[in-house]
Amino acid sequence: MIKTEIITVNPKAIDQTALARAATILRQGGLVAFPTETVYGLGADIYNRDSVKKIFTVKGRPGDNPLIVHIYHWEQMTELAREVPETAKVLAQQFWPGPLTMILPKKEEIPAEVSAGLPTVAIRLPAHPVAEELLRQTGLPVAAPSANTSGRPSPTRSSHVIADLDGKIELIIDAGPTGVGIESTVLDVTGPKLRILRPGGVTREMLEAVFGPEMVEAPPQINCARPLAPGMKYRHYAPQAPLRLLTGESDPVRRFLERTAVQARSAGKQLGIIAYEEDQSPVFVSTGVTFLSLGQRANPTEGAERLFHLLRLCDQAGVDEIYAVAPPRWGVGEAVFNRLHKAAGGKVEEIK
Ligand code: TXA
Ligand code: MG
Repeated sequence: MIKTEIITVNPKAIDQTALARAATILRQGGLVAFPTETVYGLGADIYNRDSVKKIFTVKGRPGDNPLIVHIYHWEQMTELAREVPETAKVLAQQFWPGPLTMILPKKEEIPAEVSAGLPTVAIRLPAHPVAEELLRQTGLPVAAPSANTSGRPSPTRSSHVIADLDGKIELIIDAGPTGVGIESTVLDVTGPKLRILRPGGVTREMLEAVFGPEMVEAPPQINCARPLAPGMKYRHYAPQAPLRLLTGESDPVRRFLERTAVQARSAGKQLGIIAYEEDQSPVFVSTGVTFLSLGQRANPTEGAERLFHLLRLCDQAGVDEIYAVAPPRWGVGEAVFNRLHKAAGGKVEEIK
């Protein structure tokens, strides 16, 4: 156990001195959890192998799962990537700072621990004033996975980071809830087409609007024998209780959930339901269901912002089973679907 310091920084009025201290801790080999626009990250100096190894230890992360390198200026790409294709420059111009991670061929100098032995490196320039200022003051590329214990939902609030990493890292910078709420899109830029390895904040539609649909590939993510982003093979984003993901028309889905709620009540079980405002029912209230709202179905960004917090609330409420209603498969809804699908162990049930 070490003493974890927690500081609060207002993203609208940044305390430079506090971030200068955080930057010093990073340069001296410490681990610092910091906010980004997607989720909180757990940062270490990429050139300090011991610090990078510590990331894997404190998270309990499998060693074959590479880390994303965070930068504050797009030109740092040339320090990290062996070559920077024209497409990568267009992507940087269009989507950075923002929730996009690019996979490029890596330079020799990047320690193998960062890239888990792969010949590529993941690079991202986050759009959060605290992250940007911290990276600028650190002056080094910073390796940062999500600041959660491996297998737990990613942290969208400092309280989530504290729950998982208090006593294990030097510093946590609290800057309130993150905006996007789902991790960045991981995009392979090494081939002739852009391949979405993990759907996220920069949506397929946004990429297609710039490059045309024929340039963008979104291979199936789940149950692949050989997952594209190594991290996608693990059952993560998982709350403690088993989660079942439901698709179908809203009326049959609601009737199914109402029946399930009544049965759970008589079996003495606590049920968690993750669904949209429109799916709420008086039956859930009368049966004591923990109803967790993803907001309006027509606005998937709301669901993205809330999802990981809701999964953690299920743990806190101690529910025995969770039922989640599938989000619409467009915009950031695709990423929300992907995370719920993984939390459900790669299964979807169609309700008729
Ligand atoms: O939004 C985010 O991306 C957050 C914030 C903190 O920036 N970070 C994050 O990192 O989600 P992490 O480690 O939880 O997820 C990184 C994902 C993993 O699925 C990993 O396998 C994949 O990116 N990845 C990293 N390097 C890769 C590479 N060279 N090739 C393929 N996938 C890679
Ligand atoms: Mg993660």
